[in-house]
Order: sequence, then structure tokens, then C-alpha cells
Amino acid sequence: MAGRKAGQAPGTLRLPILMAAPRPASCSAVRHLRPAIAAMAGYTPGEQVLDCIKLNTNESARPPGPKVMEALQAITSDRLRLYPDPRATELRRVAAATYGVTPEQILAGNGSDDCLTILYRAFLAPGDRVAAPWPTYGLYDDLATLQGAEMIHVDWRFAADGWHLPEALATVGAKLVLLANPNNPSGTLVPVADLRRLAERLDGILVVDEAYVDFAPEGSSFLPFLDAHPNVVVLRTFSKSYSLAGGRLGLLFAHPDLVAHLTKVKDSYNVNHVTQRLGIAALQDAAWLDALVAGTVAERKRLETLVASHGWTWVPTAANFLLCEVGPRAEAIYLALKERRLLVRWWNKPLLNTKLRITVGTPEQTDRLAAELKSIV
Ligand SMILES: Cc1ncc(COP(=O)(O)O)c(C=O)c1O
Repeated sequence: MAGRKAGQAPGTLRLPILMAAPRPASCSAVRHLRPAIAAMAGYTPGEQVLDCIKLNTNESARPPGPKVMEALQAITSDRLRLYPDPRATELRRVAAATYGVTPEQILAGNGSDDCLTILYRAFLAPGDRVAAPWPTYGLYDDLATLQGAEMIHVDWRFAADGWHLPEALATVGAKLVLLANPNNPSGTLVPVADLRRLAERLDGILVVDEAYVDFAPEGSSFLPFLDAHPNVVVLRTFSKSYSLAGGRLGLLFAHPDLVAHLTKVKDSYNVNHVTQRLGIAALQDAAWLDALVAGTVAERKRLETLVASHGWTWVPTAANFLLCEVGPRAEAIYLALKERRLLVRWWNKPLLNTKLRITVGTPEQTDRLAAELKSIV
């Protein structure tokens, strides 16, 4: 399903991005699987290895704040014995105050990946079209395959000063358009004014996935314009700027009528009690967030200087990572770094296989990367 390019005629589908030959089945029960599930390779998350320097999945290099750790310690056994609040009422109340919306405009998810799953399940019937500029976050494709929907990739308009919004996104007949802003893996940012124009032209839902927007300049978020665009859904995650990737928390913002319908689609207890408390504590510590973002943006400059010293280029980034153009040695350098227990991200995919995506780390991690690159390159 995934991977049709805009403008390609039906019947000339590109091979789905992660399609792999089905494994030889030793268990006869697998024949009962839906063919799309049996055939798909499944999403490949970045490697999660603990005793490495992890600059491969864009978590924050800095820890969550003391208020979050206090909230963790304050969890009572009774609150673990009981089910959590299915609607995450207090979390949504605190989030509404933080983001200047109403609680009825918010749905909490088990990470923003959960919010994405809810959106796909709610809007896409088998055969429906979903579109995204390409390259972008790989999970958008796999969710389409799971849902039996047809993913249309529309290439970004690539330029030296960034990757720009492709106009065709509004006209490919997609019910759902996914746009990560800043984009993963490029870190490039589309101005809100362009997104508003896209939303107005689109006969469908525009999902603005703002996983990295806290690292972008002020004024980059769509949230202040949500009320003016009932066909826009905004996603936020706590996995990046709030340092809570292990806690799994995301927020979905939309018109209250949409949120009411989407609430019917989510798992009843999709956000556990511990995570709800950690999310509240994180939202209530704005100073920690500000310091973390400022530290990350400062370290991003150091990483840019390091990358430039190797003659590599990158597109201007508004996120906590750089997508570096490394050339034909990209895979070899990725493997050599991995051997030295330093993980960065490399994809064996067209447009990406000459590049490395490097997450902004701590100053010590940048120093270590510099030392390893010196010996490898
Ligand atoms: C654009 C984008 N959206 C969503 C996610 C997933 O976020 P979460 O950890 O909240 O599921 C990621 C993670 O890398 C991402 O890059």
C-alpha cells in the first residue's frame, strides 16, 4: 500500500518502503492473518541500546527535571492497583492552561504514535488515501499499511535553503495529510502561514505533527491558529523536549467535536496513571523546559561546527538533530561509529542513503563524537 508517488498512474505503485518477503511460516496459524499484515516488514524503530551514546532517536540528552522525579516517587501503591483516569482529566486541564486551549480540545495518547494510530483508525477506511511529503517520519507509512490505506508520497521541493512544502499535497485526493513540522529526518520547518494556506485548500484533515517544535523559533507552532482551522489536528510529544520518551505521552489538539469522536476510537486506558502524573509535573516546570531547550539549541551550534569541519553540509534545522550530507561513505561511517558504541541514524533508502541524522547530545557527547569522527574520517 505505502509508497505511491504523486502523479503516478494507478497500477504503477512503487514497492512499499518496508515491504519484505514474508518469513517462512513454521506456525500454520499465520495463514489466518490479513495478507497486508503477513506481507509487511513492520516499522523499524531506531536501535535502543543502553550502553551506547545514543544520538540516533532524537531523545533529549538532558534528564527530566526534579519535579518529574518527585512526582514519580509520590505514586502510591493504591494508584497502581486502580485503573487510571481514562480521560486524563487533570493532565488535559493543565495542558489546556499551558497551551492556551480548552481541555475539550485535547486528547492524551500513549506517545504521539498512539495519537497517530487513533487518527488513522478514525479517518481512513481501506483504500482511502493518506499523503505526506517525502522523506518524513517512517511510521506514517506503516500505519497506512496496517489500515489498508494508500500512502501517497509527494517529494519535498528540495533547495539549498531548506525543504519547502510541495503544493501537490492538497490535490492528491488524500483524506489525511501528515506533516511533521519541523520535519523528521530533515529538521526543516514550514512557516505556519504556508500550513494555513494548505489547510484552506485541503478537502480533508491536515495533521501537523509538532514533535520537535519546542526547539524551533517562537511563532513556529500551529496551535494559536487551531480555532480558525477546524480541519487541522496538532500533535505534541513529551518524548523530546520534555525528556519523557520512556514514559510515553503525546497530546492531540483539535476542534472539540473531533476530539469527542476520536475519544471513542482510543483504548479506554491508553495513558497510564504514572505517565499522567509525570506529564502534569513536566508541564508545571516551564523553567526546566526553557533551560533544556536553550541548552539543546546551544549544543546544536557546536554540532554544526563539528559537522562543517568535516566538509559535510546539512539543511537548516529547527529540531534537535542535523541531517548531514556525508556522501558515499555514509553507511561506512555509521557502522564505524556503531563499532565504537556511538549510534547515529542511517537509512538504506533513496534520498537518505548518503546522509546521517545526528541527534544533538550533551557537550561531552559532542566531544566524544568529534574524537571518534577524527579517527574514522
Ligand atoms: C515526527 C515524529 N512524530 C512522532 C514521533 C513519536 O513520538 P512519540 O514518542 O510521542 O510516540 C516521532 C519520534 O521520533 C517523530 O519523529
